[in-house]
Order: sequence, then structure tokens, then C-alpha cells
Amino acid sequence: MHWLAVSELSIPSGDSWLSETERARQATMRFTKRRTEYRLRRYAGKRAVSALLGRPITNAHLATVELLNRPGGAPYVRLDGREVDFDVSLTDRAGWAIGLVGPAGSMAGSLGVDLEIVEDRSAGFVADYFTPAERTYIHSCGPHGSEGYAVAANLLWSAKESALKVLRVGLRADTRSVEVTITPTPDDAGWAPMHVTGPHGLSFPGYWRRDGVFLLTLAFRTTASPPTLMGGGDDIARGIPMHSWLTQPLAPGAATT
Ligand SMILES: CC(C)(COP(=O)(O)OP(=O)(O)OC[C@H]1O[C@@H](n2cnc3c(N)ncnc32)[C@H](O)[C@@H]1OP(=O)(O)O)[C@@H](O)C(=O)NCCC(=O)NCCS
Repeated sequence: MHWLAVSELSIPSGDSWLSETERARQATMRFTKRRTEYRLRRYAGKRAVSALLGRPITNAHLATVELLNRPGGAPYVRLDGREVDFDVSLTDRAGWAIGLVGPAGSMAGSLGVDLEIVEDRSAGFVADYFTPAERTYIHSCGPHGSEGYAVAANLLWSAKESALKVLRVGLRADTRSVEVTITPTPDDAGWAPMHVTGPHGLSFPGYWRRDGVFLLTLAFRTTASPPTLMGGGDDIARGIPMHSWLTQPLAPGAATT
């Protein structure tokens, strides 16, 4: 398993690094936030796949690494026009994105990644979206409004999203149908184990890490080692959350009616 992080500031200008299919999808997005996030996740995925395969990262080469979506939204990779035989998962938050790629032969639905930041989550959010055991854990980390509460709520939320990406259902599922258990102590590389149990005896081992204000979770279909960070990306440990779209909510050229 391999991962790579990129910041919004690294996205190439123009569209020549996107494939025709990706450009057509981008053109359907009217709001800058959606467009920027789409581009950012594409860039993370393309860079991760290129690093994994040792491919050049010129715009022309990046355009041949396509990050496309199944009808339900799950991503897959097409390389030089042909589908590859490894799984991929994408996520972005606040101007940063992660591409996670599995080894050759990894089946679709073998991994999921999600990125969040440490931010306030309301008591109603925690009451509505978490199981009783998860709520007990969150409250044991501190009162509402404390850093401990915010970290626990966002971490558990992220772990749920990662597991629901492995299941390829995303937030169509009831978030209480999966339950997260966290191990607090990270290894030397910053990864700590976590575990998500799902319906029908499903079980997703995984890892989480905190880099500055960012919380990153990974869930797998089967037990795996922590992923390897590939070279060439941006350093999320020094990352500052960005919300650049706020100054220009509508994408340039988007119809205003
Ligand atoms: C999966 C989901 C929870 C992620 O939402 P999010 O946390 O806001 O966004 P993230 O940045 O973490 O992840 C987005 C990426 O998740 C992936 N994703 C989307 N749906 C997915 C699914 N069903 N299974 C696995 N991964 C999925 C995609 O790669 C997406 O990025 P892309 O569209 O640029 O390829 C959310 O998109 C979802 O619930 N999707 C399914 C339901 C839905 O609304 N589908 C509409 C599209 S058909």
C-alpha cells in the first residue's frame, strides 16, 4: 500500500494534465469548490499512480493516468486507455488531497482513505451519527468544545468514511452501521492501528495518523501493513488548511443562471 499527499497550490494550471473524459466531468461542475476539489483529488491520484509506476509527471503523461468513477462514485484508474489491476482511493479536505494505491492485483473494494481536519463537531452531530460505544469514547476524550472531543469526533467520522469507501457505498449507508475502535499510540512513522466493524460480521483493519490539524484514516478489506509514503508529494505535516474557493464561489466560465 502506498500513499502521497498534494496541496492545492501544486495543481498545474490549465487542463492539459486532465484527460478528455476528466475534462468533460469537470465541465459539469459549476461551483469553484467542487471543481477545485475534483482537480485536487485527480492530481493526488495521478501523482500517486505515477510515483508507484515510476512514470514521468509531465502534463502529457499525467493526462494518460485517468482517475474515473464507477456509477456509484468509487474511483478506478485507466492507464493509457486500459483499466489497471490495482485499487485506488481518493480524499481531500481543506486544500489537501491524498491518493492511496494498493499493490498490483488488489481487488476493487480493498481499501479506503479519508482526510479530515480537527474542527468543532456539534453535540447533535455526535448524537446522530455515532454508536453508543463511539459516543462514550468521544465523551471520554474531553467535554464538547475541547480539543480532545474534536479530535475524537473527527477521527471516528473519518474512519467511518474510510470503511464505507471500502464497502463502496459511502454515506448512502447509515454511519451507525459501522463501529470504530481506536488505538491511541502511533508507531515511529506516525501510524496507529484502528478497527472498524460492519454489518454481517464485516471487519476492516486500518490505521490513522495526525499531521498538524489533519487527521488521516485508512481502512482495508484484509489486514495490511501501514502504507509507504511515496516521494514527490507535498508535506502534509506542515500543511495549512486552505479554502481558496471562498473568494470565487462560481467557477470561471460557469453559467450564472
Ligand atoms: C464517498 C463519500 C462519503 C466521500 O465524500 P467526502 O468525504 O465528502 O469526500 P472525499 O474527498 O473524502 O472523497 C471523495 C472521493 O470519494 C470517492 N468515492 C465517491 N463515492 C465512493 C464510493 N461509493 N465508494 C468509494 N469511494 C467513493 C471518489 O473517489 C471521490 O472523489 P472523486 O469523485 O473526485 O473521484 C461521498 O462521496 C459519498 O457518500 N458518495 C456516495 C453517495 C453519492 O452521493 N454519490 C454520488 C455520486 S454517484
